[in-house]
Amino acid sequence: MVSVEQERDLATFRSVLEVWSEAVRSNYEVIARHTGRPVMPVLKSDAYGLGLGLVYQALRDLAPPWIGVANPWEGVRLRRLGYRGRVLVLSGFLPEEVPLLAQWSLTPAVYDVQQLAWLGHGRMDRASLTFHLKVDTGMGRLGVLWDRVDEFTQHLRRFPGLVLEGVFSNLACADRPAHPLTAQQIERFRQVCYFLRDEGWPVAWRHLANSAAVHHWPDAWMDIVRPGLSLYGWVPSESRLSMTMAVRWWARVLQVRHLPAGWTVGYGAQCRLDADRWVAVVGVGYFDGYDRRFNPAAYMLSRRGERLPVLGTISMDMTVVGLGSPSSVRPGEPVLLLGEWQGQRIDFNDVAAWAQTAPHEVLSRLGPRVSRRLVRDAAGFWPLWDQLHA
Ligand SMILES: Cc1ncc(COP(=O)(O)O)c(C=O)c1O
Repeated sequence: MVSVEQERDLATFRSVLEVWSEAVRSNYEVIARHTGRPVMPVLKSDAYGLGLGLVYQALRDLAPPWIGVANPWEGVRLRRLGYRGRVLVLSGFLPEEVPLLAQWSLTPAVYDVQQLAWLGHGRMDRASLTFHLKVDTGMGRLGVLWDRVDEFTQHLRRFPGLVLEGVFSNLACADRPAHPLTAQQIERFRQVCYFLRDEGWPVAWRHLANSAAVHHWPDAWMDIVRPGLSLYGWVPSESRLSMTMAVRWWARVLQVRHLPAGWTVGYGAQCRLDADRWVAVVGVGYFDGYDRRFNPAAYMLSRRGERLPVLGTISMDMTVVGLGSPSSVRPGEPVLLLGEWQGQRIDFNDVAAWAQTAPHEVLSRLGPRVSRRLVRDAAGFWPLWDQLHA
């Protein structure tokens, strides 16, 4: 059911991001089948900017055993949404956040002996608290260095209320199948697991695999896999695993106009037209996350599937695209910025390449003005939109 408010919003939006719930679920299931492992969806950073509530709603019926978040506050949000499974706080916590962990049953990643003291002393109750040890096997970010885990476990013995339930690490180069660091990281991680086993630390959850490792590195799958971007259909370039693009980003045309040969388009007059040209001004810009760094390969797709090259510099609220003819698009009509439509696809990897960035950044830079919506089928809300604009 679409409410009156939603209908009004639908009729007047400038830019909308559709998240197709069925596709998110299907990608989760493809990953679970392919790896034969339980899946911990990584919904950190507001589900990569798509909206935690919205993606959680898509996944809720699958009852994921774990969900990964960045910080305790995201864990609290997930609990408030009604999630009762396990929550792993992947990217650190601060001393004043310790009470939240116990209060909301969140499992922290621990990567420093200092945190053991925080957890041991900063607790409101005295019940035991489980945590996952984060190990640095080559990422050089958070994590106990892989060959110093013995020092960590020696300290841990002083905190009998803290239970080492899991151990994990993060791969730095898993998206590059030929990169030697990944095999090295997997081996270091194995050494840590053997050490913990031999020293009598029974660890139930060993995990290492992000999306790229789901595709390229079976040795990294361990006890559970932690995909983020592949839930939305991202596939690294050399993978043969087929996934469904679960997001579509649209923006609407504000004007169709004709410009004379020799005219320049956009700030810095970077683009000079070598012939008369029909163009459309689209109501999306870098404030929305449509990146000003895009190179000249960037394009949008009309609803009929015509490629519309981006012309000139992207502005804060507007982007100009070239048209094949004045009837390529009409004012008010949506054009596709990302996603699959009628057999054509503007992929995460394409958009990331235009800005020389990671595919993750494409979603996480979406601005607050982009209206995020969960849609139930491939047609999205277009049948309704067409009715409203008939
Ligand atoms: C610790 C950890 N695991 C898993 C992921 C998921 O990564 P991806 O979206 O590449 O699957 C992330 C995301 O950055 C992460 O920080």
